[in-house]
Amino acid sequence: MYTILVTGASGFVGSRFIRRWESEYHILAPSHSELDITSDISVEHFFAVHRPSVVLHLAAISNTWYCEQHPDESRTVNVEGAVRVARAAASCGAKFVFFSSDQIYNGNLQTGPLCEDVAVAPETVYARDKLLAEQLIANVCPDAVMLRATWMYDADISGLPLHANFVSNISRAIHEHKSIFFPVREYRGITWVREVVEYLPHTFLLPAGVYNFGAQNRLNTYETACCYIEMMDCGRACDTIVAADAERFTEHERNIAISNEKVFQASGGYICFSDTVDGLRFFLASQKQ
Ligand SMILES: NC(=O)c1ccc[n+]([C@@H]2O[C@H](COP(=O)([O-])OP(=O)(O)OC[C@H]3O[C@@H](n4cnc5c(N)ncnc54)[C@H](OP(=O)(O)O)[C@@H]3O)[C@@H](O)[C@H]2O)c1
Repeated sequence: MYTILVTGASGFVGSRFIRRWESEYHILAPSHSELDITSDISVEHFFAVHRPSVVLHLAAISNTWYCEQHPDESRTVNVEGAVRVARAAASCGAKFVFFSSDQIYNGNLQTGPLCEDVAVAPETVYARDKLLAEQLIANVCPDAVMLRATWMYDADISGLPLHANFVSNISRAIHEHKSIFFPVREYRGITWVREVVEYLPHTFLLPAGVYNFGAQNRLNTYETACCYIEMMDCGRACDTIVAADAERFTEHERNIAISNEKVFQASGGYICFSDTVDGLRFFLASQKQ
């Protein structure tokens, strides 16, 4: 049985991973103060005592706007912290699974689902730091699996943290009788976190490398929102809830829509994400049960 160290266990993904899998795996879930990834002493001590067989590295500053305002902190946590944990994992022979981001593609100009081997030139602090972390981790921990996750969503589940996400933003707009803008010049996968969590144990078996990890989506974000609201059937016309934002990404379209073919093939077809619209449909069905 694996002993899985989850860093960032109190976060959005970590808390859901633990709730789903704690009865099936031995999970170590230290708090930020019990394992501070910015401290050599903290990381060395934790690994010396616990010697996990898998490290699921979720600890990060995940707020992209905050990273833009605090680039030093972003570098310290999202790059140096991640590399420190990867090095410790390698030195005790643990499989290291790192959460990267589809934001790495945010400087790309081409359209169409993007594969992992496309040339990238990220435009934001968060994205540049995720890319740098991937590169440095590959050096210190050659067996690492690095997952470029998309924007994730979930319902408000009692006892679990939630940050603003695609479905919660729409629910709030409906509840407050407001309308909400979504960009028409943005293409991205949006993934139900439940699918991510379900597939994560299988990533421990993947060959080393970078994998896009989430839903494919051929719609722009505004179209995705319209589609979701129609499926919700909430009694309000779609155009009274969502509005098209044509002002964002005028310099170039933001196309961070991924291809998830590589992880599908590498997992022998096991890791098979629903596309964004199907995922939203399954999510809505689960909420009605
Ligand atoms: N959520 C998304 O839609 C999304 C999309 C793409 C990629 N990702 C990536 O997926 C991973 C998980 O995201 P998430 O949404 O679960 O993040 P989150 O909810 O913001 O959680 C981040 C976790 O990291 C911990 N942390 C921060 N600094 C730390 C430090 N110095 N030492 C130890 N722990 C520290 C936090 O603990 P405290 O709160 O106690 O500080 C928290 O448990 C991140 O790498 C994120 O960049 C997320």
